[in-house]
Amino acid sequence: MNTIVTGLQWGDEGKGKIVDYLTESADVVVRGQGGNNAGHTVIAKGTKYVLHLLPSGILWDGKTNVIGNGVVLDPIGLVAEIERLEGQGIAITPEKLLISDRCHVVLPLHKELDAAREAALGDRKIGTTKRGIGPAYADKINRNGLRVADLLDESYFREMLAHRTAEANEVLARFDLPTFDAEQQADEVLAAFARLRPHVTNTIASLHKSWKAGDNILFEGAQGSLLDIDYGTFPFVTSSNTTAGGACTGTGLPPTSIDQVIGVCKAYTTRVGAGPFPSADEGLSDYLHDLGREFGATTGRARGCGWLDAVLLRHGCMVNGTTGLAVTNVDGLDQYETLKICVGYDIDGTRHDLPPADRHAWDRATPIYEEVPGWMSDTTGCTHYDDLPENTKGYLRRLSELCDTPIQFVGVGPDRVQTLVVATG
Ligand code: IMP
Repeated sequence: MNTIVTGLQWGDEGKGKIVDYLTESADVVVRGQGGNNAGHTVIAKGTKYVLHLLPSGILWDGKTNVIGNGVVLDPIGLVAEIERLEGQGIAITPEKLLISDRCHVVLPLHKELDAAREAALGDRKIGTTKRGIGPAYADKINRNGLRVADLLDESYFREMLAHRTAEANEVLARFDLPTFDAEQQADEVLAAFARLRPHVTNTIASLHKSWKAGDNILFEGAQGSLLDIDYGTFPFVTSSNTTAGGACTGTGLPPTSIDQVIGVCKAYTTRVGAGPFPSADEGLSDYLHDLGREFGATTGRARGCGWLDAVLLRHGCMVNGTTGLAVTNVDGLDQYETLKICVGYDIDGTRHDLPPADRHAWDRATPIYEEVPGWMSDTTGCTHYDDLPENTKGYLRRLSELCDTPIQFVGVGPDRVQTLVVATG
C-alpha cells in the first residue's frame, strides 16, 4: 500500500504525527518537495523531536528514509538536524537515510537572497521562513542551480559556486547587504557535505526497487495545499508543488504507484506568514495561544488562527484526490462553546464554494458561516472514535460531508496513542 500524506491547509496540520503513526506499517518513508522550511514535531514515548528535512520514519528502527529529488537540500541545516537527533539517541546510518543525487542544493547565499527579496517587497512581503527555499527553486527552474551530484565533484562545485556567488553578490550589493566569499561558502558547504556523502545515491532506482518488491511506501508531504505554487493562495505560497502530484515528480515514483492519499487538516485553521485568511478569528487565536498552542516549530512564530474553512478544504480534497481525511488538534476546541464552519464565501454579493484565483477578490471575501455546538469536554483521553462526545462526531461528520471525503483519522493530542483510527482505506 503506497500512501501520500498531504496537508490540506497552510502547513502545520500535524502531518508529522500522522506520518509517524502510518510509519509503523511502512517500509519506506520519502519526502518529495520543500526543504528545511518544514517543521514537524513528533512526540514519541514522552520525548519531543523536531524534524525539518528528515522524513519522520527516521525515529523508527528498520525503516528506510528517503530525501527525494524534488527536495531542496541545505547541507549545513541537514547536518545540524542529524547531529541534534543523534544527540537524542537516534542513529542515522547510510542504510536508514538515502539522499537523492538530484536534489538541488540550498546555499548560504540563497538564504541571504530570500531575506533581500523579502526586504525589497516591504509590506507586500510573503513572510517566508528565510531558509532560502524560493531562491533555490528559482535557480532550479532558471537552470543555474547546483545539485547534490555536483557536490560530489569538488573542483566543479567550487567553480560553479564562484559564478553563482558573483551573480548573487551583485544583487546583495544593490540592497547594501553583506556579500559572499565564494571560497569560504564552498568550504562550509563541502565540510557539511562530508557527513552526508555516504547517504547519497540514485533514490529513483532504490524507490522503484522497493515498489517492485511490494514494500509499503509512505510519501510525506511538507507544507500544505494552500501553499502549493499552483493551487495555493498565490503569491503567498511556497515554491514547490505541495499537493499529491508533487509526491510523484519529487520522487520518481509514478502516479500509477499510488494507492491512497490522506489529507491532513486541523479541526480549525492556522496560517503563518502573510496572505489571505478569510476565516481568521482573533478570539480563537487568543484562546489557542493562551493554551500554549500554535507556535511554529521552525520559526517559533505565533500562528494566526481561525475557523475551519470548508471552501479551502473542498478545493484541497479536489486537487489532491484525497481518499481520506485525518483531522488533528480536535482537542484544541474542547472548551469552546459554539464553533463556526466557513461553508462558502460571499464575494460582491455572489456565493463562492471554491476559492477565487484573483488575488484582489480575497480582500472582498466574507465567510458564510454555519454554527455548530461545541462539546465542552476533554477529548484527550479518548482512545477510540466511539469514545468521542456526540457533538465532536457531529462536527467531524459535517466536515466530511462538506468535503465529500471520509474521515480516516482523528487526532486528540500530540502523543502517538492519541491518534484514533476511524476507518482503514
Ligand atoms: P518559504 O517556504 O520559506 O518560501 O515561505 C513561503 C510561505 O510558506 C510563507 O508563508 C511561510 O510561512 C510558509 N511556510 C513554509 N513552510 C511552512 C511550514 O512548514 N508550515 C507552515 N507554513 C510554511
